[in-house]
Amino acid sequence: MSIQHPICAPRPRLAIDGGDPVAPRGYVMMSRWPRLDRADLDAVIRQLESGLFTEMSCTAQVHEFENEMAILTGSKYALALNSGTAALHCALAGVDVQPGDEVVLPALAYIACAAAVLHHQAIPVFADVDAHSYNLTAESVEAAVSPRTRAVMVVHLHGLPAEMDEIRAVCDRHGLPLIEDFSQAVGATYRGRPAGGHATVGAASLMSGKNLPSVGEAGVLVTRDREVRNRAARLKAFGEEVDVDGSYRLIGATMGWNYRINLLSAVMVSRQIYHLESYTALRRRSAARLNEVLAEIPGFSGPLEGADREHCYHMYRFRFDPEAAGLAVSVDQAHEALKQVFWAEGLPVVEFQNQPLPGHELMQRKLGYGRGCPWSCHGRGDLSYHIDDYPGALEAIRCSLVVGYPAQAVLANPEVVDAYLAAFRKLERNLRVFERFAADLPSIPPWLAPPRIF
Ligand SMILES: Cc1ncc(COP(=O)(O)O)c(C=O)c1O
Repeated sequence: MSIQHPICAPRPRLAIDGGDPVAPRGYVMMSRWPRLDRADLDAVIRQLESGLFTEMSCTAQVHEFENEMAILTGSKYALALNSGTAALHCALAGVDVQPGDEVVLPALAYIACAAAVLHHQAIPVFADVDAHSYNLTAESVEAAVSPRTRAVMVVHLHGLPAEMDEIRAVCDRHGLPLIEDFSQAVGATYRGRPAGGHATVGAASLMSGKNLPSVGEAGVLVTRDREVRNRAARLKAFGEEVDVDGSYRLIGATMGWNYRINLLSAVMVSRQIYHLESYTALRRRSAARLNEVLAEIPGFSGPLEGADREHCYHMYRFRFDPEAAGLAVSVDQAHEALKQVFWAEGLPVVEFQNQPLPGHELMQRKLGYGRGCPWSCHGRGDLSYHIDDYPGALEAIRCSLVVGYPAQAVLANPEVVDAYLAAFRKLERNLRVFERFAADLPSIPPWLAPPRIF
């Protein structure tokens, strides 16, 4: 058998150029998550065998989950909920946002963040994100605050904590409560303390794709403020007053939904907390390996980190600059070409969203929950949203793409990361082929295409 010297080895061809794809189609969607060991499965089976399936029938289990989440985030109270959207809605009620109040939130986040504001009949007002951290900044929050603002919502996008101290200082100056959406940042830290515990109230999705996964859907709210917790608890279920000591009274004087958690989800999250540290370490190792390969490709770079915070890499967003790479194509051509090249390799890289939140139909058409409410119901029918007001969000969408979506488990699966590394290496060795491929594509900003999340 002859052994080829690496220098003489034939250059692997990109799949768009007739080469073999790195992975078969659908490979990434099979990446395993959540990972379940015997003890995880046994805990869920025990709950099923107990015959107790509702919060009301098994308050001890719910309290265990809540105590663990409070400890995990350095908070005093936690409230179990059935989704991240419910947690955000309860957080808004918890800080006493009222119908018609403005809530400032990032122009680049998940649509649920804006939807939660609308659920509460409040008015979303967007602040721009930094084009490199993808998060709000103190300056962008300051610029978006108005006399009508009643709360600010920060989202730690993809797992990198935002600059919480600086943003909290702006909120304090204006007397505003701060809501921290740490759905993508469970396991991340900011200035040595866990994400989720840096604001008046934290809210997170624990749906099964997240770093701390349940079986299906779940959410949690955390706070140090008892009154915030109690207001949120009343909204959670029909205006019932379930106090932190478990005492129960049906008040029913305020609007309430049914946002109770599924017990199997509570049990699963309690189990997954044991694994969180090791899985977060695994994700960080995956990100470090991707960073290393990207550093070899001119014009490409991995996510920002920062000495005072630890990313938990729910997703991995990388930037590219065709000019710096010496490629004679526009950034929009490079963007589209990268998506097509990776899809052809069987490995999606996606936008996460091709529209900033103010560009979504929900904001553009302002149909709301009917008859234009909440805007028209609160004298804000005149408010219109313009994506050009958010250059940071537009730059982020245009100049970066995401590894780790739609299968949010990529970074927790080293063998899937190996496949991405192979694809990036292939790209690096075929930059001229890539350039020719990109040059034939139309140069259109991503947000002009119909809305998509991948
Ligand atoms: C940042 C962020 N906020 C809120 C949500 C909504 O959570 P859920 O789907 O559990 O309602 C998600 C994702 O699902 C999210 O990523």
